[in-house]
Amino acid sequence: MTSTHAFWLAGRQVTGETTFDVTSSWDGRLVGTVSVPTDAQVEEAVAAAYAARDEFAATPAHVRAAALDHVAKRLIERTEEIGQLISAENGKPIKWARGEVGRAASVFRWAAEEARRFNGGEAQRLDTDGGGEGRLALVRRFPKGVVLGIAPFNFPLNLCAHKIAPAIAAGAPIILKPAPATPLSGLVIGELLAETELPAGSWSILPVANDKMPALVQDERLPVISFTGSEKVGYAIMDSVPRKHCTLELGGNGAAVVLGDFSSDADLDWAANRIATFSNYQGGQSCISVQRVIVDAPVYDRLLPRIVAAVEAQVTGDPNDPKTDVGPLVSEDAAQRVESWVKEAVEAGAALLTGGDRDGASYAPTVLTDLPSDVTLAREEVFGPVLSVQKVHGEAEAFAAVNDSKYGLQAGVFTHDLQAAFRAHRALEVGGVVIGDVPSYRADQMPYGGAKQSGVGREGVRSAMEDYTYERVLVLTGLAL
Ligand code: SIN
Repeated sequence: MTSTHAFWLAGRQVTGETTFDVTSSWDGRLVGTVSVPTDAQVEEAVAAAYAARDEFAATPAHVRAAALDHVAKRLIERTEEIGQLISAENGKPIKWARGEVGRAASVFRWAAEEARRFNGGEAQRLDTDGGGEGRLALVRRFPKGVVLGIAPFNFPLNLCAHKIAPAIAAGAPIILKPAPATPLSGLVIGELLAETELPAGSWSILPVANDKMPALVQDERLPVISFTGSEKVGYAIMDSVPRKHCTLELGGNGAAVVLGDFSSDADLDWAANRIATFSNYQGGQSCISVQRVIVDAPVYDRLLPRIVAAVEAQVTGDPNDPKTDVGPLVSEDAAQRVESWVKEAVEAGAALLTGGDRDGASYAPTVLTDLPSDVTLAREEVFGPVLSVQKVHGEAEAFAAVNDSKYGLQAGVFTHDLQAAFRAHRALEVGGVVIGDVPSYRADQMPYGGAKQSGVGREGVRSAMEDYTYERVLVLTGLAL
């Protein structure tokens, strides 16, 4: 896995004049060398995408659906190899990396299905008033234009899939920029798209350097920006192009609430295991990993030791080992940042129940209680394997604690009470409420996105297709309605 990886320019495999290396955060080995597009090549890709707009929007649904189905099928066929690549470039344990390939296949499969049913149009009769007699409106959606997709490192395959697949399904050309730390998995999607009959120009995958991105973001030929990444970068993009359509999938400090009725031994074992697993999956580097556990007083004393035991049972180490639950973070810098936030919290009075150690890029699964409300860990997204547990008294206090955050991506509520589930749905200021499980549950077809500082707009195949398109009305006159 050390050859030079070309990028994809308007469906062709091309190299530029410079390269950069992708290394493993686990053992520092070289995973791949990636060719970087020149400014002229980026311009060529943008011009080709812009020129392909009308042709691509008019491509029959069966052609786009067949291409999407093909990518889904090939991802499944190549699961093991692509899973190894994700694991190598990202540090993600192989079992989670294989799961990511399966999810990406499902995104392409869903996109194929949506491509077949999208945009049949909705008819509205207009003869509801005298002036509209004999008239009918047909409401259909058309692409806003070329999409600029900017993907993060934490799901290097699936979050690229979430940008590309809906664009193809909606007939919108896309230029995708994968994350500099993990570009190889996104480039593999190019290999699979190149096996299809999609029009040249309809897709490019360009590992553009971050410092070249402001010019692309400003380019008026790219009216839609779909960004997943940090709050700081996301809002900087949106503020720099206030008249563009921006979808921002940003951070979260996911809360799992355990209410007092969730009290049997089996309930508490389930909650503890799910919390421990999904605080630590991908080293906590998911926007919906569990960072805050909010526990109703009647079950607190029985749940806390279970959480600590379940966190301590997480197998840490080599991401290639199928038994490993928690591998390294994406870089040593990332682990040092997590370490500094935990240190700050402990110095301010938090109790460290387990973890708190760093070894290179690896950070031990960590549990804290008594977290002061003003420390960084209490306010920001840790993006590491760290959770804090907080005792509350009753549902209202629990929901208020969830909402005491600038973020609002997803929340989990462990309860058997259907009324409490509906009250949670009403009260929690988040993009998704998961009952009986952690906030980290995401089915790829669900609308996915945040409230408050967690972002703007929604992904999830159908939602992204709506995001990339706009309604255009066709009024027909003189009809025998
Ligand atoms: C994210 O980190 O926002 C993506 C989470 C997921 O797709 O499971």
